Amino acid sequence: MDYDEVGLSLGDQREAALARTAQHVLSAWQEFDTARDRESLPSEALHELLTAPLPREGSDVLGVIDQAVEVLDSSLAQSRPRYFAFIGSSGLEVGALADLLAHSYDPNLAVDARAATELEWQSVSWLAEFIGFPAQTGTFTSGGTISNITALASAREAAIPGARERGLGGFRPTLYCSTEAHYSITRAAEVLGIGAANVRAIDIDAQRRMRVDALREQIQRDLADECTPVAIVATTGTTLTGAVDPIAQLADVAEEFGVWLHVDGAYGVPAAAVASRAYLFAGLDRVDSVTVDCHKWMFVPKACSAVLVREADSLAKVFAHDEAYMPHAGGHYNAVDITMEYSRPFRALKLWMLFSTHGANAVRDAIEVNCNQAEMLFDWIQSRPLFKTLSSRPQLSIVPFRAVVDGCSDPDAHNDALCAAIQSDGRVYVSPATIDGHVWLRPCFTNFRTTDDDVAALLDVAEELGAVCRTLHG
Ligand SMILES: Cc1ncc(COP(=O)(O)O)c(C=O)c1O
Repeated sequence: MDYDEVGLSLGDQREAALARTAQHVLSAWQEFDTARDRESLPSEALHELLTAPLPREGSDVLGVIDQAVEVLDSSLAQSRPRYFAFIGSSGLEVGALADLLAHSYDPNLAVDARAATELEWQSVSWLAEFIGFPAQTGTFTSGGTISNITALASAREAAIPGARERGLGGFRPTLYCSTEAHYSITRAAEVLGIGAANVRAIDIDAQRRMRVDALREQIQRDLADECTPVAIVATTGTTLTGAVDPIAQLADVAEEFGVWLHVDGAYGVPAAAVASRAYLFAGLDRVDSVTVDCHKWMFVPKACSAVLVREADSLAKVFAHDEAYMPHAGGHYNAVDITMEYSRPFRALKLWMLFSTHGANAVRDAIEVNCNQAEMLFDWIQSRPLFKTLSSRPQLSIVPFRAVVDGCSDPDAHNDALCAAIQSDGRVYVSPATIDGHVWLRPCFTNFRTTDDDVAALLDVAEELGAVCRTLHG
């Protein structure tokens, strides 16, 4: 039987399918260039399609491609320039092309895939050079969560050698991060057997950065209590406000007590490459490991994170293993010896194509533009009496703000309602966040497509809908 008789080849529909896809992609890219008036919501017909039972027989691929595009077009897309919620990715065009190519060839990166493996190494080293961290090794993962767990698994093995083998019996491991660290640090403590209760959430200062004096005191207390500090996690910047923990001072503490220092730079560490922000990252060259989400502020599509590590064998110490089905050719490590995953997509290709096509300077410039937009929004809000910001200027590109209404009995309910109104209005998209117990709108700028006009639109829409909300809830 010929393989195309099996029914899984596009056969003579190949060219038409590619052309149709290319046409849709081109329209999407052109549409993403500017904001659209409103988000398009899923139609009744689409709801019906999406509750249909399993198709026993296939149907025409061109129709299926059109349906897929309708689904995507009726979904919230972070690539659009007025998507300011969470920490968005931007669906960079060459990144999308890289994904199509990578998934078409689909190399096996669990072992040496020849050129693809070389490209992964090169991408790790380009990324490390870009942010200014002397990595000896590193690996690509699905996201900041997995990168953080991967780095902290190495830290655990360094603090308690043999833990992967014998477990943590007899040890009382502890982990240190600020009260505003990402939940993935707690998740790492949970899955690595450290225990969420042994994560020491250290107080923050007025600029919402980890307090170094409080960290030192906590470590001293824990050592006196016969705990084993596994790692200090510096967040650069935090998911809530973009605060950058003071890496150099934390490195002093880490050296003083011989504790692993990990930087969770999932969101913010690419800004270390930007002249105006580099000072915030002083000391990055002294840490043990760094998480970088390329699908955040390096603009490529999800999922593409990297964990970079200072010592060449730190990852292998915790992940290397021998299996009959995974021989070590020539005594070299396989990729699965330094990752949590076996099968992995070829994520590095999109980062490599980003740097190769646009160059590092274009990436730096785009990050700088986003930082300037954050500064601009912060300054604009100072002259709008209906809104207020946090007292300190944005360190990176997150600018929480909230509506202030004289005489309003429940300002949090008002800000909640305002955020919901903005989301259902659909001209801009922003998410709420709770800061010090109160509701804020929390725009984040990480999209190279966002213009200053888009930032102005956020404030205009918030002002317009704020007036409506005041009438209804004020
Ligand atoms: C500081 C920080 N760390 C880790 C993560 C988790 O990243 P991911 O969603 O890629 O797993 C995030 C996500 O926003 C983050 O902001």
